[in-house]
Amino acid sequence: MEPSSYHTPVLLSEVLASLITTADGVYVDGTLGGGGHAEAILSRLSPRGRLIGLDVDEDALRTAGARLAPSGNRVLLVRSNFRELGAVVRANGEAADGILLDLGVSSFQLDAPEKGFSFRADERLDMRMDRRSATDARSVVNGYPEDRLADILHRYGEERRAGAIGRAIVRERQHLPIERTGQLAAIVERAVGGAFLTKTLARVFQAVRIEVNNELECLREAIEEGMNVLRPGGRFVILSYHSLEDRIVKEQFREASATVRRSAHQLLPDIPLHPRIRLLTRKPVVAGERETGMNPRARSAKLRAAERL
Ligand SMILES: C[S@@+](CC[C@H](N)C(=O)[O-])C[C@H]1O[C@@H](n2cnc3c(N)ncnc32)[C@H](O)[C@@H]1O
Repeated sequence: MEPSSYHTPVLLSEVLASLITTADGVYVDGTLGGGGHAEAILSRLSPRGRLIGLDVDEDALRTAGARLAPSGNRVLLVRSNFRELGAVVRANGEAADGILLDLGVSSFQLDAPEKGFSFRADERLDMRMDRRSATDARSVVNGYPEDRLADILHRYGEERRAGAIGRAIVRERQHLPIERTGQLAAIVERAVGGAFLTKTLARVFQAVRIEVNNELECLREAIEEGMNVLRPGGRFVILSYHSLEDRIVKEQFREASATVRRSAHQLLPDIPLHPRIRLLTRKPVVAGERETGMNPRARSAKLRAAERL
């Protein structure tokens, strides 16, 4: 597959404008995917500028590796979870001038039948971005007790009928293990009916995917790690695609940028804090009509950026 059809980078010019402050700097792309953002970052750097790229998915690393090969030893690619980005950056004796996280799965991952993410096709259920990990979607839907399943659907899918769907999964798996995306989709349809089915399926599949990949915890850790390895003046840019992710970015950025803590009582003074970052985006940047018309994935994208103090 051509790297350019692997995944179309979202909000590309906005990412570059927020991220790059010095052409000689070290930039970290924590979510390489097809390498689209990474390639554009490198094209803005001088011959001294470097890029460290991370992904947990070996296909992504292979595709991005081929695409970025012309940049030679200015690029270092590491198969690693972005929750470990601090260790990766330090192991290479560096601090970062910019860090990009473009969250979620790539178009390639969603469409690849062997990765088992999609309810639009009947595939073997899997949903692991990192094939080395022990937990996959089959182990979640066949192994978790009903209350844990319902809790995941409720918390990670914000699904109103989480209880009914959790119940249906447990009932049906007693007869036949749930091995395929089509089976899971059919169980959901039988449990909640056909109205707004696509939205319900999207929520259920999102919830299972978040659980399988421990996505929210990894994001929380990566934001903390990232702030620790950014140089003063360095930029943190995060693209999120659903409200759970965006809430985490917004809250962690807000906490780290707070200059005072309000006192518990009106007669007591507020407590001054030492902020670690300055927000560059009070409201998230979103894609314009032109981009969303060409790339539906851009519709839900929210970009937040901050500068290390
Ligand atoms: C939306 S795609 C990135 C696309 C990329 N910006 C481009 O231009 O092609 C997200 C990528 O991040 C990877 N990913 C998701 N969570 C990760 C994590 N916790 N650690 C490392 N990589 C992760 C996925 O495997 C996927 O390849």
